[in-house]
Order: sequence, then structure tokens, then C-alpha cells
Amino acid sequence: MKTEQQHREEIVRFGKLLHQTGLVAATDGNLSVRLEDGNILCTPTLMSKGLLEPQDLVIVDQRGNKVSGARDVSSEVNMHVVIYRSRRDVGAVVHAHPPTATGYAAAGLALDRALCSEIIVTLGSVPLASYEPPGTPELAEALAPLVADHDAILMANHGVVTCGPDLITAYMNMETVEHFAKIALVTHLLGKQQPLSDQHVDKLREIRTKYRTQNHVVAQGKD
Ligand code: 13P
Repeated sequence: MKTEQQHREEIVRFGKLLHQTGLVAATDGNLSVRLEDGNILCTPTLMSKGLLEPQDLVIVDQRGNKVSGARDVSSEVNMHVVIYRSRRDVGAVVHAHPPTATGYAAAGLALDRALCSEIIVTLGSVPLASYEPPGTPELAEALAPLVADHDAILMANHGVVTCGPDLITAYMNMETVEHFAKIALVTHLLGKQQPLSDQHVDKLREIRTKYRTQNHVVAQGKD
């Protein structure tokens, strides 16, 4: 179990990584973790994720109302709240604007074709939520039906949100989405896609179920 200070340091660390790897620019993106008491530790609005200090972070309650912190919380905290509310297994949420995946979202294309075995095992598929303005309850509503079955969702004309049992997993899911988007783009450049058969996809889904169950057990410290 991590202390609040450790969670703060981890958000700062993964914020830097998001920025350094080009998954966000300027003040894009936001990160949060669920604390032991159910409150949410979240990045503030309008700050570079590459320049955060632990004391910049804001604590909100389960509805997104500020509990403590000198700064204003991310304008997109509703998106985080809706994910925590519907997924008890989620401990962290990351939102970013990775250029290739966001390009798909801006083209109205989901990343849901069975092109890479690894993606089916790790993320399943990456659906596209309809466009709603950033930071609005309508955007949270557009995400709500997709949250139960997906750890990564494209948001039309906006960006990507990922989640996981912990921050490193939520962050890595973001890297995976962008990497897959690049691969999918190459198939477009080559003018040919060769998706896996339904039979292969079913087998990979079985592996995914096994893998997720094992990870869940490890995350809960019961292995
Ligand atoms: P915040 O700075 O309010 O978190 O918003 C960043 C962002 O990514 C907007 O889409």
C-alpha cells in the first residue's frame, strides 16, 4: 500500500514521462490515482505535466469536489470520476493527446481491428467515444457505456483516456495505444490490412482473460 506522498511522487514521475515521450504537449493531459480513503489525487489544470511538483496536486472527493490543494483541479476530473465510479478495479487514470492515436480519433476511426495479437491480449480493442466538449458532464456520459469493458478509449476529436489497477499500468496502456496506432497507420500507408481470423481472436481473448485474472490477483497481493 503506497502513502499519499508516494502517490504524489509517482504522478509527478509519470507526468514527466508522458511529456518526454511526446504523448502530451504544453499543458495537455491529466493523471489521477484513487487513494485508500476513496478520494482522488489528481493533477491541477493548466500546468505542464513535465513540470509538476508533488505539492501541485489536488485531492477531490468521489464526485470531483475539491477536498484540498492550493491549485484548481483538472478541468477534466469528471472523466476520471466516471471511470472510478464504474470500475472498482481501477486505481489510476491517464488522459493524453498522443498524436497518432488522436489522429485516429480526429478521423472518426476506432482502433478496433484485430491487427496485432499483443493488443488483443493487453487492451482487447480501443473503441471511439462520440465527440463532446472537453471537461463537460456530456463527455463523461459519452464514455460511461464504454468504460466497463475497456482500459483504453479514444475520444473523438480530442484524445485518449486509459486506466489500470495502478498508475504504471494506466501509463503503459497509453504508450500501447499510441504504438498500436502507429502500426495501424503503417498498414494504411501500405494499403493493406490482414486482420486475424475470428478463431485466432477467440484464442487471444482466452489468453487475455487468463492474463487479466492473474494480474488482478497479483495487484491484490494474493499470489
Ligand atoms: P487540464 O489542464 O484542465 O487538466 O486539461 C488538459 C487537457 O488535456 C484538456 O484536454
